[in-house]
Amino acid sequence: AADIPEDLTEILVTEEEIRSKLDELAARVAEDYAGKDLLLIGVLKGAVMVMADFARALPFSVPMDWMAVSSYGASTKSSGVVQIRKDLDTDLHGKHVLIVEDVIDSGLTLSWLLENFASRGAESIEVLALLRKPEAAKVEIDCKYVGFDIPPEFVVGYGLDYSERYRNLRDVAVLAPHVYA
Ligand code: PRP
Ligand code: MN
Ligand code: MG
Repeated sequence: AADIPEDLTEILVTEEEIRSKLDELAARVAEDYAGKDLLLIGVLKGAVMVMADFARALPFSVPMDWMAVSSYGASTKSSGVVQIRKDLDTDLHGKHVLIVEDVIDSGLTLSWLLENFASRGAESIEVLALLRKPEAAKVEIDCKYVGFDIPPEFVVGYGLDYSERYRNLRDVAVLAPHVYA
């Protein structure tokens, strides 16, 4: 759309870099979970693009479930208050769960999800996140599969939104401050 370029200051991660990183992570996951009952859980809505490309980079068929939570709403800061908008359809007992996320910012969303899933009897729980902002962490998240560490800027694209916009950008880019000022 014509409104997009002027809303962005810099492309941080390109479509090509995302693709090759997800291929790399998929190869690691395929090896680590060989012979195991793996369940991918995507965190709606941000993780949709990561899930679509990561899952298709795996060399075997794998079930996907989705949890819809939201802590940001239309704000640029995490409230820390996590709301469930859609729960899982799957019983986690005996499952090796891999949570698929677009970004770890403060870590509050994942910290809440990890605790929530642990109480449902999963055999193991790991996290895959395309992006992580180490300098924004309020809680430490043990994330086994990280795509890119990025600075604590407001980024959009490849699933990440500002007020539900920009999710369909192919790259990850920094949002110009005038957009949310
Ligand atoms: C965003 C993002 C992560 C979370 C990360 O989701 O997709 O899920 O925030 O932030 P945190 O580490 O500070 O908790 P959001 O709540 O905006 O919902 P969305 O995925 O529907 O955009
Ligand atoms: Mn999200
Ligand atoms: Mg969001």
